[in-house]
Amino acid sequence: MGSLSNFVSFIVSLGLALAFCSGNVQAEISTNVDDLRFYYYPTANDGVEIVFNNGASLSASNLKAATPTIIVIDGFLSNLTTPMSQNVKNAYVANGGDNLNVIVLDWGRLSGSGQSLANPLDTVSYYTTVIGNVPEIGQRVADFLNFLQVNKQIQFSDVTVVGHSLGAHVAGDVGKSVQNTYGGLLTRIAGLDPAGPLYDLQLIPSLRLDRNDASFVDVYHTNRGVLGIIDDIGQVNVYVNGGSSQPGCTTADITGTKGYCSHSYSWKFFISGFQTNYLACPCLGLIVDCICLNCNNCSKGIPVGPNISYSASECSLYTVSSGPLP
Ligand SMILES: *[C@@H]1O[C@H](CO)[C@@H](O)[C@H](O)[C@H]1NC(C)=O
Ligand SMILES: *[C@@H]1O[C@H](CO)[C@@H](O)[C@H](O)[C@H]1NC(C)=O
Ligand SMILES: *[C@@H]1O[C@H](CO)[C@@H](O)[C@H](O)[C@H]1NC(C)=O
Repeated sequence: MGSLSNFVSFIVSLGLALAFCSGNVQAEISTNVDDLRFYYYPTANDGVEIVFNNGASLSASNLKAATPTIIVIDGFLSNLTTPMSQNVKNAYVANGGDNLNVIVLDWGRLSGSGQSLANPLDTVSYYTTVIGNVPEIGQRVADFLNFLQVNKQIQFSDVTVVGHSLGAHVAGDVGKSVQNTYGGLLTRIAGLDPAGPLYDLQLIPSLRLDRNDASFVDVYHTNRGVLGIIDDIGQVNVYVNGGSSQPGCTTADITGTKGYCSHSYSWKFFISGFQTNYLACPCLGLIVDCICLNCNNCSKGIPVGPNISYSASECSLYTVSSGPLP
């Protein structure tokens, strides 16, 4: 472990040194959790900010008391306006009706959003800085949920966290902090292609999303081994279209990578599950991709996506087929 942490600090210092030498002046990435923002969406277009530990802002928001609550958390470089935050929020608002509170965590000041990624070494240094923020963000979101519990009777066991990429590991740390600080347990974490870089190597093994972070943890793998994590860290792990590369993602996108398209496919697939009843079948083997022999007619298939059943399933590795998604 010592040599690994030396390796990490070497990479960080290298990134920082080169970022410094390249003369890029970037807005600083905050490490202060007071810069986190929580927006509650009673309707898709009207976000209301709820300020942590500010009772007046909570009352003014009209957050529904004692009601199941979803927290949406996008990944590295994200903020309130990034596509996952907006689309997942919209899908839950459209399907949850009056029986759900939908809240988006805007962690843009701490996620690196707005940074230029022109220099790959800068990107490495931003990523390592942002990873360092993840555990404290998880703690603050847990404290925020406790604030909702005390003032609005929203139980931890009524809270689902949906996280994409690095946001999935933030979700895991929310679950750990809820357990460690409050002795509670989130009902569900849905991890949408949890980030792989540095988390695959288990440099920070206790801090990544894990199957014990909520009563139920389902993980959707779409860019396994590139931007997405390799390991089956959920109770149910769905290797969408085999798990590593997705339909419609054959050409490099604006970021210059094919991987980004497949990585984003995880949240597109997930919310398309509000319309489409996907049946996932157990993997027979998982070497590179999940292999399934009789996928069109498997026994032991389970419906997956937002409406997945939380009851224990017989297997933990599944695959499902789907086409290109807009
Ligand atoms: C939100 O994030 C995107 C992507 O990183 C960025 O282009 C945009 O400037 C950010 N917006 C704000 C308000 O920070
Ligand atoms: C999933 O549940 C939501 C909310 O109850 C519902 O609107 C939607 O039709 C369901 N989707 C499927 C595919 O069952
Ligand atoms: C699916 O398998 C079952 C038996 O395992 C069989 O009875 C059924 O006809 C099959 N359906 C299709 C569409 O192949």
